[in-house]
Amino acid sequence: MLFLKVCASSSAASTARKMAGVGITFVFLAASAVAQKAAAPSNKQLASAAIERKVDSLLKQMTLEEKIGQLVQYNDSGYAGAADAAQLAANPEARNGVNSMELAASGKLGSMLNTVGAEKTNAFQHAAVDKSRLHIPLLFGADIIHGYRTIYPQPLGLGATFDPELVKDVAHMSAVEATTAGVRWFYSPMVDISRDARWGRTTEGAGEDAYLGAAMARAYIQGYQGDDLSNPESVAASVKHFAAYGAAEAGREYNTTDMSEIRLRQDYLPPYKAAVEAGAATIMSAFNALNGVPATANPFLLQKVLRDEWGFDGFVVSDYTAIMELTHHGIALDPATATRKAFLAGVDVDMMSHYYDTELPGLIRSGQVPMSVVDESVRRVLRVKFALGLFEHPYARGTEITAAVSEHRPLVRKAAEESFVLLKNDAVQGNPVLPLSSGAKKIALIGPLGDNPGEMLGSWSGGPQLSDVVTIKAALESRAKKNDGSVVFEKGTEFTGTSDSGFAGAVQAAKQADVAVLALGESGVMSGEAGSRAHLDLPGNQEQLLEAVAATGKPIVLLVFSGRPLVLTWAAQHVAAIMEVWFPGTEAGSAIADVLYGDVSPSGKLPMSFPWAVGQEPLYYNQFPTGRPATGIDLMQPPGGDSRFFSRYIDVPNRALFPFGFGLTYTQFSYGKVSLSRTAVPLREANVQGARNLMTATATVTNAGSRAATEVVQCYVGNLGASVEQPIRSLQGFARVTLKPGESRQVSFPLGFDELSFYNSENRAVVEPTQYTVWVGDSSLATDSAEFKVNP
Ligand code: BGC
Repeated sequence: MLFLKVCASSSAASTARKMAGVGITFVFLAASAVAQKAAAPSNKQLASAAIERKVDSLLKQMTLEEKIGQLVQYNDSGYAGAADAAQLAANPEARNGVNSMELAASGKLGSMLNTVGAEKTNAFQHAAVDKSRLHIPLLFGADIIHGYRTIYPQPLGLGATFDPELVKDVAHMSAVEATTAGVRWFYSPMVDISRDARWGRTTEGAGEDAYLGAAMARAYIQGYQGDDLSNPESVAASVKHFAAYGAAEAGREYNTTDMSEIRLRQDYLPPYKAAVEAGAATIMSAFNALNGVPATANPFLLQKVLRDEWGFDGFVVSDYTAIMELTHHGIALDPATATRKAFLAGVDVDMMSHYYDTELPGLIRSGQVPMSVVDESVRRVLRVKFALGLFEHPYARGTEITAAVSEHRPLVRKAAEESFVLLKNDAVQGNPVLPLSSGAKKIALIGPLGDNPGEMLGSWSGGPQLSDVVTIKAALESRAKKNDGSVVFEKGTEFTGTSDSGFAGAVQAAKQADVAVLALGESGVMSGEAGSRAHLDLPGNQEQLLEAVAATGKPIVLLVFSGRPLVLTWAAQHVAAIMEVWFPGTEAGSAIADVLYGDVSPSGKLPMSFPWAVGQEPLYYNQFPTGRPATGIDLMQPPGGDSRFFSRYIDVPNRALFPFGFGLTYTQFSYGKVSLSRTAVPLREANVQGARNLMTATATVTNAGSRAATEVVQCYVGNLGASVEQPIRSLQGFARVTLKPGESRQVSFPLGFDELSFYNSENRAVVEPTQYTVWVGDSSLATDSAEFKVNP
């Protein structure tokens, strides 16, 4: 009965998708019924009566070939399997008969990827607009991940800023730049939660936490899309990779993920959901399988969650050749089956698989794919194109930006400064090493990142010119000059070096200096896509170089460059000052000098836990309780006698070396007691979706030191007594607060249904009558807390 009712009230197309979809069962129907409430387009930027009318009129005129064309995406090399342009140049036959220019001219291509530059995009666009029968413009998408020409820190570094407003600004800045090259669609933000530092793509997201990830996801969407997608400076976002790609087993790239639905909904989906709620125009499906079903053919994710529950109106694009890869996953024996499974699951656009154009016609003819489903997907693509105003402004905007923009430099410098996390700053001869004292005149700058413009940028930074990048050497030299000082640079070793022939020079330079600044860490390609690592130490023999320099006894500042948490255990025990700088971008050197010299106090906080040892991975702060908690046991000691049978390691502590939310600065902040607006909340008031401000937690933070600085005040919530185990605590609020010496500020965190609810065994978000603890403090180890109850 329910089934019939749903069919009757559902659009024909979405019903067809549901009926024809792979593995869609009756269990799914209850949610479909719920979803009907959200079926009408709800995204204000995409859905308007005017747009729907235009789409209707165009759809009526389109041939099947033209419709399928809108669902096909190639790069400018046409199709060469998974081959890149270089391979194609070597073997033009690899093109498989697909020529993007010809396809564009005949209306058989809807969008292009990583085709960038005004000349190029305009040429393809002219082919589509001038020559194709219906003059439908192409949509150019590209991996503009952290800036186009003026590069800002990688998303993980931006996560460390805990500053969504800043993220919105830099995202907008890159849209302003890239739209001059004809790009109106970014394959960004990557909102995959990653709790495993071995996974290389950790660098592309905001880290391990769902709340922080959701805040950043919203900020990117607002920055890219603005209030009006049709503004020629706006770009459509593609939120990726849907879903749970960041939980790839053992951190190995493209590996399978397997998790309970509770964990998926509670810890992995919130950033994607936040992005959809913020109006994201498109979503990219992920490479991985989730609980046995590849995300690119996963009706649970793409239909039930994304469309039925969240009411997503935009289109879904596959990841690169991911539809073809369904055969590798073993869920399709042939291209036709892969196409049918992906398409009926809800993937609208085929990125580079060369399957939709070859297979969909036959599947439609044989009735395996209903025409209504095709129309529905074409509608979604056209909706985004109309919303972007592409029919009115198809070409690259204004004058093409080809180099870093000087007016954008202050913003990317600020972003870099805010991203740095001071992990350690011990006193040497009575004073903390940082900021550098006026006595620190002679600086020995050592390491493969000391004078290396390309490696200041990290992965996915194709656009910039290296001459635009400020290196550490250049910035420190100019600062040292003002201070009557000098800088001696010694590379010391290579990234993955094994030779110690450069060590002597480095040691000599350190001996003659007042302070040694070591710029060590990963190269850009060691993280990012296909950058999984099984070891998380400083690569090559960089740690030996550090040890050799440390043996001089000179004060050391270690600058760590990395796209992920590294194991810094030796450094934490032997080096006076350590600062994580990720990959800072175009203004790397200037930002580093600003912070080293104390013009700016560091304010970044870790968006991921830094482990003692790689064997702790996946490591995250919002752990669940166990029946044998190791509370009160000295985990620095190997177990003996009574201390063995607890949830612990015998060789490292349980906790992180540097925990989530942690970061020092050049002053000290003190916290007053946490106070709550009331002692209890009745369940009938609390267990209401959308209920806000059920409880307010307030604490006073004071700058108790002698320098102005910014603190990221963090609010964590935990509860006991629920029907399912809850994490010991999880982040539910944060605020950046800048205080002068001696200044205090009250900071309040409103807690509503979203902050207090959790998923129960029916996978529903609920508040139950339980006992809550709220902590407010400077990291996930915050100790000041207060308690309240949700009464039955
Ligand atoms: C990556 C995506 C990227 C796409 C297009 C894939 O390999 O996983 O993140 O957007 O390529 O370049």
